[in-house]
Amino acid sequence: MPGIMEERELRKAGGAAGGGDFGLEVLLRQLHQELGLNLRQYKPNYLKRRIGVRMRATGCADYLQYRQYLRQHPGEGRRLINDLTINVTEFFRDQDVYEAIRGAVLPEVISYKRGSGMWSLRAWSAGCATGEEPYSLAILILDALTRAGDRSRWAVRVTATDLDDRALETAKAARYESAKVLPGLELEDYFFPVESGYAVRDEVRRLVRFLLLDIVKQPPLRHLDIILCRNVLIYFERDKQSQIMEIFYRCLRPGGFLVLGKSEAIVGAAQSGFAPYRRRERIYRKRD
Ligand SMILES: C[S@@+](CC[C@H](N)C(=O)[O-])C[C@H]1O[C@@H](n2cnc3c(N)ncnc32)[C@H](O)[C@@H]1O
Repeated sequence: MPGIMEERELRKAGGAAGGGDFGLEVLLRQLHQELGLNLRQYKPNYLKRRIGVRMRATGCADYLQYRQYLRQHPGEGRRLINDLTINVTEFFRDQDVYEAIRGAVLPEVISYKRGSGMWSLRAWSAGCATGEEPYSLAILILDALTRAGDRSRWAVRVTATDLDDRALETAKAARYESAKVLPGLELEDYFFPVESGYAVRDEVRRLVRFLLLDIVKQPPLRHLDIILCRNVLIYFERDKQSQIMEIFYRCLRPGGFLVLGKSEAIVGAAQSGFAPYRRRERIYRKRD
């Protein structure tokens, strides 16, 4: 934390308004120390845009004023984190990707597990937002195991994580204005109508657990069969993206699947550890 003298220097160097990169640096340092969150991992322009939104909302003219505001208003740090995160998502977003999961990924996983006598299926939805992604995957798993007729033998766990606690509250409540499933599935098998729209049925909810987690931190997950991390990496600097890839590599079992967003790709050292499985759908497989 810079002292008064240091802050004065920073102000001078960063321009009178304290709105320059030095002002931003002081603010980021405070946030890192007080919230334990290193925001430098995000792309600078994205970060400035999102912090700018909170600064305007709180009437702060520059980063240093906003830093003062954060000190005086304990709830503001959490609000900033929640505003930094964009939660756009939907059930079965990019239908072709979920078709590939249903038609290729899950049959592979299930037959491998069944063949080796391991009746467990473990997945991670990293950056799950309001929950539509992990519930979509859970629906497909439930459908596949029910069709195979041995659902009761399997232990299924989809761990869903995000940094945004408000989004996670929505995810846990499992109530949505609208719902959707893939062709061939019946909506009412997985959702039931409620006043505000649709609620996810308990058979699906039971498979998913939600955790507040910064994606750059190693989660307590190992030997996973599938990781979905879609439309999250785009916000991160390249070196952070590659750090996240290494986490995914460690969490997957050999032969496990990594599904990225349509505009994302594997970067960094982990690249050699993954082989493309379905290029168009951005599905990769951890090499043995
Ligand atoms: C655009 S949504 C993607 C949701 C879903 N994966 C999909 O593709 O539909 C991006 C999510 O990433 C989350 N996110 C951003 N930074 C994060 C971080 N450092 N750790 C965990 N989640 C993060 C946001 O909170 C947001 O919910």
